[in-house]
Parts: sequence; C-alpha cells; structure tokens
Amino acid sequence: MVQKISILGATGSIGDSTLQVIAANPDDFCVSAVTAGSNVKRLAEICHQFKPQFAAIADEALYNDFKAAIAGLDIETACGEAGVSAAAAYPTDRVMAAITGFSGLKPTLNAVQNCSIVMLANKECLVAAGSLFMDIAAQNNTTILPVDSEHNALHQLLVSKFVEDVKHLTLTASGGPFLSLPIDQLAKVTPEMAVKHPVWSMGEKISIDSATMLNKGLELIEAQHLFSVPADKLKVLIHPQSIIHGLITMYDGSVMAHMGTPDMQIPIAYCLGWPERLKANIASLDLAAEGELSFLAPDFKHYPCLELAYEALNAGQGTQTVMNAANEIAVEAFRNGEISFTDIASLIHDTMDQMTDADISSLSDVYAVDEASRRKALDIISLKK
Ligand SMILES: NC(=O)c1ccc[n+]([C@@H]2O[C@H](COP(=O)([O-])OP(=O)(O)OC[C@H]3O[C@@H](n4cnc5c(N)ncnc54)[C@H](OP(=O)(O)O)[C@@H]3O)[C@@H](O)[C@H]2O)c1
Repeated sequence: MVQKISILGATGSIGDSTLQVIAANPDDFCVSAVTAGSNVKRLAEICHQFKPQFAAIADEALYNDFKAAIAGLDIETACGEAGVSAAAAYPTDRVMAAITGFSGLKPTLNAVQNCSIVMLANKECLVAAGSLFMDIAAQNNTTILPVDSEHNALHQLLVSKFVEDVKHLTLTASGGPFLSLPIDQLAKVTPEMAVKHPVWSMGEKISIDSATMLNKGLELIEAQHLFSVPADKLKVLIHPQSIIHGLITMYDGSVMAHMGTPDMQIPIAYCLGWPERLKANIASLDLAAEGELSFLAPDFKHYPCLELAYEALNAGQGTQTVMNAANEIAVEAFRNGEISFTDIASLIHDTMDQMTDADISSLSDVYAVDEASRRKALDIISLKK
C-alpha cells in the first residue's frame, strides 16, 4: 500500500533527503502536504515533481508568487503560520517534522495531534517543550520516531530493551569544523567557516550549532525526553568520522553500537519504513575503505556551549527553554555579524544567568519563557554594543 507522507520544512536539508528517499521508492510512498518558510522556487519545484494535495508557505508576502509558480496544478494552497499548521494537520499516514528552530513547535504539535506517526527532526521543539510535548504525543497515541541520526541509532539499539537495563546511552559528535582549531583562534571564525561542516551536509543553523557543539547539548536534552532517561545516563563522545552514531553500554560490560555512513537518508529511510525495513538502495558502509575510527572526550574549554547544555539538562525544563531561545538569538546575531563566534556561549550563559526564575508547567509558559528569553538575549546584545 502506498503511504502518504507530509513534509513540514520540505525545502530544507532534511526535507530534501526525505524527498530523495520517497522519489527512490515510488511504489511505497507519495507526498500529501508540503511546507516552506520563504523559498518559493524550491517549493514550486517540489509541487511540480511530487504533486502533493496541499502546499503552504509561511511568508504571507510571497503567497501570490507561489500560487503563480504552481498555476495549473491541482493543489490546495495556504500561507502564514495558520497555513503551515493546516498542512501539519492535513490527513496523511506520516509527517516529517523538519522545520528548523522554535518556529516548528506549533506545526509539529499540530501534526502530533492529527497523525499517528510523526518523524521528528526538529529537536528544538522537543528541547523547548520537553515532557509537555511527549505527554501530548502519549495522549494522542502518536508514535514519535527520532530522525536525528544519534537518536535514531539509539532507537534501533533499544528495540526490545528496557532503558532501565542500560547503564549509559552515548551520543557521538563529529566535533564540527573547529575540532583542531586552537581555542585562542575561535573568536575570529566567520559564519562562512562555521557552516562548513566537515562531514554532514545540513542547514545553516544546525551547522553553526554543530560548530559550537550546542547541537550535541540540544541532543542530550532531546534524548532525555525521547527515551525518559535521567541526565546522568547520557554521555557524549567525539568521533570525527561520524560512522558510529550511538552506543548503549550494558551493566554487564557489553557495548552495542549503531553504524552507518553519515547520510541522513539512512535514518529517514528507517523512519519511513518503521516498523519494517525499507529495501532502500542507499550506499552501505565500507569499513575497510574507512580504515580507522577515532574517538576523544569533549573538552568544555573548547566547547563551552556543551557545558551550558549539561547545566540545562540537569536544571530542568525552564532552563532548557531559555537556553534554546538564547541560542537561536545568538546564532542569528553571529550570522548577521553582530557578535563573534565565542560570544555565542557568553550570550547563552548570560541569558541563562538572568532568567533563573523561568518556570514551565504548561505550553503557554513555554511560549512566554521563549519570548522573554529572546527579549533578554537581545537586550544583552544591545547593552554590549
Ligand atoms: N540537516 C540535518 O542533517 C539534520 C539532522 C538532524 C536534525 N536536524 C534538524 O532538522 C531540522 C531542520 O534542519 P535542516 O538542516 O533541514 O534545516 P534547513 O535546511 O535550514 O531547513 C529548514 C526548513 O524549515 C523551513 N522554515 C524555516 N523557518 C520557518 C518558519 N518560520 N515557518 C515555516 N517553515 C520554516 C525552511 O523553509 P525555507 O527553505 O523556505 O527557508 C526549510 O524548509 C532542525 O531542527 C535540525 O536541527 C537536521
């Protein structure tokens, strides 16, 4: 039976990899709804190639351009935040949630409330809303399948195991483009240097998060909520080749690892096929060609954002929401040349320091704390100018 797939964030890197897997398996999948932020050209190309039933663009000012670009196609369209949320609720078999950042929270929650399987790439919405997000999924009997390669690896490793029987869960990290750059040169790196990830091809925001390793911090928190594990069971290991994505260590000393080439089509194919395995024709790993795999422990002096993320992991939801918001402001300011690369960690630190009373017990608290943290981070930037 052909499964209908909706893709939130279809024009991005994860959206693109999802469409590649779908295009390679036309007997198994078709596209039902797609969304974009502002990339009219790419959204229109997707509509022409995949002929979804519904397409939405978040930027209302571009709606007429988008409609003109798909004139003649029989596709229901919408725009704005409401349009993207309508796409998330469009009847379908699975939703790929791949909008970047906190702006993905509302549509992803809408998908969780309307579709029984959500493939979750947008880690920021889980970091910001944590157990509230997972509770809504549980109330709606929605299965959340992790797309992030490390969590996808852990999901596969934990099949038929209880997380209580596992001693540690380890997420690997490539270390990003500045792994061997001396610490005293980090302040001078540019956004162009930071987005050039040595292994993965990804969107700009996650690439910068990988360079600071705040991305691994977001992933620690994501893992805490996805797998309901205490913070002290979660570990990070730097593995520059990104061949091993996740490991579980058992109390009897056995360690099980999940491997694969660093290609997001692999975890995406797992999520599309689950609980079966797709016969997707994705290049498999050649360990002999790989030669050597190396590992090292992360150094908080080199990656202060990771230390801040551990602080948030232990502190709880309020601090996690603050950290996520401060990071989004910091990354945007760095991309715009307003702050340096090393200022990203300082800004997150200062925002977390000044927002200690952030308390979260409902979704409206999440939106309020997110907004207040963004305002605080922007104030700190303007005071330092
Ligand atoms: N890329 C990876 O390998 C990877 C791996 C694991 C997890 N993830 C996670 O997956 C998510 C997407 O990452 P990505 O690398 O695919 O990002 P990306 O390439 O920047 O794509 C982001 C997508 O979100 C859309 N978007 C941005 N702002 C929006 C808004 N306000 N409203 C509606 N749509 C909006 C973009 O539309 P436009 O194109 O029109 O701007 C685009 O379709 C992130 O949360 C990331 O952390 C990514």
